[in-house]
Amino acid sequence: MSESAKLSFKGQDYEFPVITGTENESAIDIAKLRASSGLITLDPGYKNTGATTSAITFLDGEEGILRYRGYRIEDLAEKSTFLEVSYLLIYGELPTQAQYENFSKEITHHTLVHEDIKKILEGFPSNAHPMGVLSSLICSLTAFYPDSLNPVRNKEEVDLSIARLIAKMPTFAAWAYKNEMGHPVNYPDNSLDYCSNFLKMMFALPAEKYDVDPVVASALDKLLILHADHEQNCSTSTVRIVGSSQASIYASISAGINALWGPLHGGANQSVIEMLEAIKADGGDAKKYLDKAKDKNDPFRLMGFGHRVYKNFDPRAKIIKKAADDVLEKLGVNDPVLDIAKELEQAALNDQYFIDRQLYPNVDFYSGIIYRALGIPTDMFTVMFALGRLPGWIAQWKEMRENGEPIGRPRQVYTGPNERDYVSMNKR
Ligand code: SDX
Repeated sequence: MSESAKLSFKGQDYEFPVITGTENESAIDIAKLRASSGLITLDPGYKNTGATTSAITFLDGEEGILRYRGYRIEDLAEKSTFLEVSYLLIYGELPTQAQYENFSKEITHHTLVHEDIKKILEGFPSNAHPMGVLSSLICSLTAFYPDSLNPVRNKEEVDLSIARLIAKMPTFAAWAYKNEMGHPVNYPDNSLDYCSNFLKMMFALPAEKYDVDPVVASALDKLLILHADHEQNCSTSTVRIVGSSQASIYASISAGINALWGPLHGGANQSVIEMLEAIKADGGDAKKYLDKAKDKNDPFRLMGFGHRVYKNFDPRAKIIKKAADDVLEKLGVNDPVLDIAKELEQAALNDQYFIDRQLYPNVDFYSGIIYRALGIPTDMFTVMFALGRLPGWIAQWKEMRENGEPIGRPRQVYTGPNERDYVSMNKR
């Protein structure tokens, strides 16, 4: 029996259908709200508003649950690989051996980028933030592959664009880093797996032999899995709304990269390390920074803490925290900010301000510590987040297009001046 919700307004009753998803989440379908009552809803930041239905990722913020296409994030992080998870998110099922080999081969075949893209890269100063370089290079693919401009053309065209994106993003990310270092870029080595190829493009230097450390490659693969999708977060919602205008997938992903850059979203992993470094430089006084985070007159926030949805532990943070200990031990790295992070976490989890607001470590709190141990510089951390989130953005864009969703165009409540006549300049 289908449920419904009633609304009374100015003596009139209205009834709207309630839809319920496969995990018993319910929503009021207000598609006919304005036509029937003249009302719209208002919800800055969409804290209570569902933008779509989706079959890709389920998360339960109260229980700290995260699943990609029904598979637990804990199982995927332990047993799967980033490319296999990418296939799962994008095509809906874990691939057979043949499907995986074809997907992996297709991606390997597209890792090289047009030589003219180096001219775009060379136009950036070395102090350009890698996220700005990355979003620009991704958007430049619209120029080199104009067929992609009509995203609804056909399945083959979309699959080719998907392969190009997953293949070329590591190349662009590594090139953004080389631009910052003032080093010559490295070309892809298609004899290597996805993460090893990226690490070699990042760190290999001319005239020096570079061997990828399997511990580093494996840790990176796990981190990419943990970042691969997270339902309707800020950057994914950006990808969906840009794609809803039938802009190309490259333009949509480039927009998502820019949304992720913000310090309240993916940029937090860079801000966490900067915060921990500041605490270390300031004598390691975690309590002083907790007090700053609680002070309403102080704009400082405890970066890497809190989440719009998770009101319990972010399951990814738990996995990354354990991985941080494992990776640093295997690499023989002793990073004092890890101890500061753990001390800060314990202090916050026992502080009434954080308890009352259900603020827990999120995915960004420990990830930077691992990236740093892998030799990745701080301002590349959010690029790593984008590398991981790419298949999720692609899957969500593809789902939105295949469902034929309408162009996103929210309403508003106007609070500006009422009608008034124009006054000529000499009478003002
Ligand atoms: C990601 O959505 C996703 O899924 C995102 C993500 C993904 O995978 O895509 O999980 C990735 O973006 C993780 C979040 C990374 N950002 C940070 O770590 C930045 C620090 N965190 C906050 O800015 C904040 O917690 C947000 C942005 C994450 C969530 O903000 P909300 O949901 O809008 O909550 P809010 O700002 O309204 O905060 C509620 C209360 C406020 O206090 P009161 O006004 O009620 O007194 O909690 C306080 C806030 O001041 N608060 C914090 C805090 N986070 C919230 N106080 C101190 N430090 C913090 N980190």
